[in-house]
Amino acid sequence: MKTEVVYFTRTKHTEKMARVVADVCGVEAINITEQHRLFDVDCLFIGTGIYGGKPSAELFRYIDDLPVNQIKHAVIFSSNFTKKDQTELLINNLRAKGIEVYPRRFVTTGSFLFLKRKRPNEKDLVALRRFTIKALQELGGNS
Ligand SMILES: Cc1cc2nc3c(=O)[nH]c(=O)nc-3n(C[C@H](O)[C@H](O)[C@H](O)COP(=O)(O)O)c2cc1C
Repeated sequence: MKTEVVYFTRTKHTEKMARVVADVCGVEAINITEQHRLFDVDCLFIGTGIYGGKPSAELFRYIDDLPVNQIKHAVIFSSNFTKKDQTELLINNLRAKGIEVYPRRFVTTGSFLFLKRKRPNEKDLVALRRFTIKALQELGGNS
């Protein structure tokens, strides 16, 4: 199963998370602002923070521009200061592109200004590692 990990970040939390996911998958995490091309991907992990109640416009544009028929499944991981899942719009857009979205999402707390300092922390990253292993197993990987 071919797996890739892409992410958008403003304050580096998602980068930290993406490195954990990529480590489990045995690949390098790709910042969506870097030049790259995806093809024939069975499982695309997508990481993002939440800004003004939703993922960034950059990530929506990136999803719009994903190549057609090259991505089978997407798995979402995210953080925000409410810990409430705010990725619904992203999921709708992925589905509209014919990409199957893994039904469970990883959402954890991400600090913002003086709120929820030092999150995501080591414990959050351990939970993310477990989530990633389970998603890979359920989608047919061998981790
Ligand atoms: C400009 C900005 C706007 C944000 N807006 C929200 C928001 O509307 N709701 C929320 O729960 N968190 C919000 N946050 C918190 C981020 O989602 C959280 O810090 C997340 O961990 C950031 O991930 P990143 O460091 O990868 O960018 C905001 C953070 C920033 C910097």
